[in-house]
Amino acid sequence: MSNYHIKHLEEYWQVYRKSVRKPENFWEEIAEEHFLWRIKWEKVLEWDFSKPEVTWYKGAKLNITENCIDRHLTTRANKTAILFEPNDPKEKAQHISYKELHKRVCKFANVLKSKGIEKGDRVCIYLPMIPELAVSVLACARIGAIHSVVFAGFSASALAIRINDCDCKMVICSDGSYRGAKTIDLKVIVDQALETCPGVETNLMINRTGGEVTMKEGRDTWIQPLLDTASADCEATIVDAEDPLFILYTSGSTGKPKGMVHTTAGYMVYTGYTFKNVFQYRENDVYWCTADIGWITGHSYIVYGPLANGATTVMFEGVPSYPDCGRFWEIVEKHKVTQFYTAPTAIRALAKEKLDYVDKHDLSSLKVLGTVGEPINEEAWHWYNDHVGKRKSPIADTWWQTETGGIMISPIPYSTPTIPTFATLPLPGIQPALMDGQGNELKENQVEGRLTIKFPWPSMARTIYGNHDRYRETYFSTFKNMYFTGDGARRDAVGYYRITGRVDDVIIVSGHNLGTAPIEDAINEHPAVAESAIVGFPHDIKGNALYGYITLKETGEVRDQDNLRNEINQLITDKIGPIAKLNKIQFTNGLPKTRSGKIMRRILRKIAEKDTSNLGDTSTLLNPEVVQDIMDNAI
Ligand code: WT7
Repeated sequence: MSNYHIKHLEEYWQVYRKSVRKPENFWEEIAEEHFLWRIKWEKVLEWDFSKPEVTWYKGAKLNITENCIDRHLTTRANKTAILFEPNDPKEKAQHISYKELHKRVCKFANVLKSKGIEKGDRVCIYLPMIPELAVSVLACARIGAIHSVVFAGFSASALAIRINDCDCKMVICSDGSYRGAKTIDLKVIVDQALETCPGVETNLMINRTGGEVTMKEGRDTWIQPLLDTASADCEATIVDAEDPLFILYTSGSTGKPKGMVHTTAGYMVYTGYTFKNVFQYRENDVYWCTADIGWITGHSYIVYGPLANGATTVMFEGVPSYPDCGRFWEIVEKHKVTQFYTAPTAIRALAKEKLDYVDKHDLSSLKVLGTVGEPINEEAWHWYNDHVGKRKSPIADTWWQTETGGIMISPIPYSTPTIPTFATLPLPGIQPALMDGQGNELKENQVEGRLTIKFPWPSMARTIYGNHDRYRETYFSTFKNMYFTGDGARRDAVGYYRITGRVDDVIIVSGHNLGTAPIEDAINEHPAVAESAIVGFPHDIKGNALYGYITLKETGEVRDQDNLRNEINQLITDKIGPIAKLNKIQFTNGLPKTRSGKIMRRILRKIAEKDTSNLGDTSTLLNPEVVQDIMDNAI
């Protein structure tokens, strides 16, 4: 089992040094010992960051579902693979065994085939957190179709953009979803989206809420009758190591969302390896990640990573506050959860509630805690450590991105000493570097700079779907021969990393990555709006919230400001989704600009943060007079 499972810090350093000295050997050994291949690779790695082109396990052939399901059937057939906890605590939990999962995935895959889906076709999945979401993802992988999961909180137009961008032939959705006390009619959203998606031939529907839906002849089909008659045997389609496994959209700092393309072998090896080590998963543990499969966290650490390890992975349909704010802890107690992985924003929200919600539950099963999505502030870290982990469960503050596919910088629980707010050390094989503004690497410790990665890792995204130039431009052009993350970080005296946040125009709100440009584009569609600029400001639950500075076409007193604010937020909800709504909207007479016309967000950010002591030299602006006016009217 060599270094698959890292235990002590000395062992970590040993493994780490080995991993960077001979990366090919390191990743070859892991791939060789822990995964199932139909044909082995000819070469472990080929790469050229200037193109950029990265190939892992060239020539290898495999199917990821054989690794995640079939190979466990000899030893774990009756073990629970997916433990589904419904939104309503009165509805029974489902324990889906590996054997049952195999059957469900095979049947689902056969239905996809019967609807004409072939290897390489794109399938859009727009589902709530119900077992069919995991099953449909795996069913696509079974036959080499490329899944593109869109988070079921996105609006119709955001969904349509994503369907069209990668030419999905099929959509898989449900009639509706349950979220706490609310029922959402997803089919209505899908119908609206599909009005502008001519390429979609089939819409497969899953019955969840039993709500009224209108079915479009020839396009919409209920899946259940098809599953009932489908064969439970579906031979896995063997794919190449570098065949795409999925596309997942992430917002960029400009323009339309980026369809990050992840390929098969490297993604499997890396998510499997990191899952095992970061969560210290042992047989019979019950692992729970509270994310939605609509985000990369759910892809890598609810579905693929855990299942590649034969783990039991919990899928929770609901929200942390329903029926009350003790729900997470009730579930931990009920299913004796051993590893719990959540987002700082959820921790902050729950930390505001009465302690009794946590204290009344037996959380003694917990061994490892994790966080992801944004920097965790010290207060939230301590609350999590004291009240959830009872100071005996190490916290893995895991830094990574949709683009990286898997966790990059994180403590290895029980070996890496943790410090609040530090993601600590790079995982084996990961070579971070900090760069200064002039493009020089800061080689010492106790430095702060832009976080880059110098060497390829198996689960890195290979391209942006349909736009390789944008991929190169966004990630490989800022620093020569390096992947630029868009984040800033500090390295302390012992080499621990602390992520300080984005250095570009992406704002992390409640752990969700939001680009300012698409939000501004949505606002600017309002007939009264001339232009707008969005910045983030600190918020005690969301981490950051959005502050919009909006200049209207007609200057002078705005008559019904509140009404206009509501209209603007409604527009954002329609175009992007409620997560992108603005917390504060200030109407301005102009936006501070450089002489070349670039909006000076730095100034707007400082005003939103109420830190106007040092705005820098504003005299070189095109319109310095607007700054005072904005300050005087700041919210
Ligand atoms: C951005 C990526 C990776 C899954 C969830 C988010 C921020 C993520 C941390 C952390 C500080 C973090 C970064 C990163 N981020 N984890 N532990 N500490 N910041 O994926 O939507 O692609 O966002 O989230 O800014 O670049 P994503």
